[in-house]
Amino acid sequence: MEQPALFTIFGGTGDLAKRKLYPSLFRLFRKGNLNEHFAVIGTARRPWSDDYYRDIVKETIQSFDPTDAEADAFASHFYYLSHNVNDTNHYDELRELSVKLDEQYQLQENRIYYLAMAPQFFGTIVQHLSSQKILTEQGFNRLVIEKPFGFDYDSANQLNQEIRKVFPEQNIFRIDHYLGKEMIQNIAVIRFANNIFESLWNNRYIDNVQITFSEALGVEERGGYYEESGALKDMVQNHILQVVSLLAMEVPTSFSDQAIRLEKVKVLEAIRRYSPEEVKNNFVRGQYDTGKLDGHDFLPYRQEENVAEDSSTETFVAGKFLIDNFRWSGVPFYVRTGKRMTEKGTRINIVFKQVPVNVFHFDNEESAQPELQQNVLTIYIQPTEGFSLILNGKEIGQGFETDPVKLDFRHSCEVTGNSPEAYEKLLLDALNGDGTNFSHWDEVANSWEIVDRIRQTWDQETPDFPNYTAGTMGPQAAFDLLSENEHYWIWQP
Ligand code: BG6
Repeated sequence: MEQPALFTIFGGTGDLAKRKLYPSLFRLFRKGNLNEHFAVIGTARRPWSDDYYRDIVKETIQSFDPTDAEADAFASHFYYLSHNVNDTNHYDELRELSVKLDEQYQLQENRIYYLAMAPQFFGTIVQHLSSQKILTEQGFNRLVIEKPFGFDYDSANQLNQEIRKVFPEQNIFRIDHYLGKEMIQNIAVIRFANNIFESLWNNRYIDNVQITFSEALGVEERGGYYEESGALKDMVQNHILQVVSLLAMEVPTSFSDQAIRLEKVKVLEAIRRYSPEEVKNNFVRGQYDTGKLDGHDFLPYRQEENVAEDSSTETFVAGKFLIDNFRWSGVPFYVRTGKRMTEKGTRINIVFKQVPVNVFHFDNEESAQPELQQNVLTIYIQPTEGFSLILNGKEIGQGFETDPVKLDFRHSCEVTGNSPEAYEKLLLDALNGDGTNFSHWDEVANSWEIVDRIRQTWDQETPDFPNYTAGTMGPQAAFDLLSENEHYWIWQP
């Protein structure tokens, strides 16, 4: 069933719109979720014509091999408006075009405003949407916002207040594109649809949890943004803390956005707020130096475009979160993320406790039996999708030597290739008014509180950067962090 709506994309000429939004809208069009009754207004400063804009949109969908007729039919729904977000008159033009398209495509006054541009403009745009009466009375008015949502708790709070003057919380869809990923959504299913896991999902049986988001890419052409953000704000404040909350939350009473949100927020509230001393003991930062990866020599971060020669920005973070509640007390949640690491890989390792006594350990044997392997459940988020479980089995032959066995399931390339892209799912959710896979303000606020403490402590000292070679899994300190607790990173590519 098609849900009629007008999409207004602020930042319509930008990289995100071209790489993610237009291809995702096309996939929805192909599947019939968008059909006759939709229109897209792209706005940005550049003076493009509708025809030029449509050509660009068509270029962005070439990888789907559309026929000319199909590409034309899709692109004919796109309109371009040159727009200066600070100029009130431009909003009047936007209102007129919106009303016209509403009638032309019978959109029932349903509007989605997508802010795919620099966050300093969010407040102005939202205020003008209201003051220039662009918001409609009959249909829905939903705001989709890209990260970063603020740069610390105070700025996020201020931004939130500005937005909330115009949009109620249930109409604000804060994007965290990880929440649209297939295997992130699978976390809830693995946990709540499998009794073997959920009954063991606590500090009696789980030893530690490890979350790795590694990237082989460097900072690319985003030096300007990244210098201000660093890995902590770029990845930990949003994606990683969202994953921690999904892994650690209690079973929601129903699978509704409100019930899930309630449980996620409780986890974020229970994450220990570290003192400066605790930050130093539990979090490490890194910055990549020159190095080799797949035969290429890479520049150190400090020589990347738009990066200061003496930059103190971290391109790597590893840390340990502690969740002070009944279920998780004492279980470290280790996280690490960085640029220019060994390979692109997002995975979660749930490491179970050892059996209390290893009855297969025979003291009188000549060849000492190795320690039993800990059971590990791994959830592969990307690039491959699936899960594996390490169990101990008996080695074939005389005696009772044990041998770890890996049960491994991966979606086939065909399935992965055809599974909806994160942005496609999230756009459809926003169209359907389903906020489950978006970040609620309470989640954002708690995440900033946690991250601000780390940032503030770090800002007191100049780090000794660079401290890891490009193409490695980060500085030595990230390994020491675990070995201090007699743990080690399960994933060591
Ligand atoms: C973004 C970050 O949110 O996520 C980028 O700003 C990062 O720095 C990206 O590269 C990673 O996303 P994905 O989907 O490629 O794993």
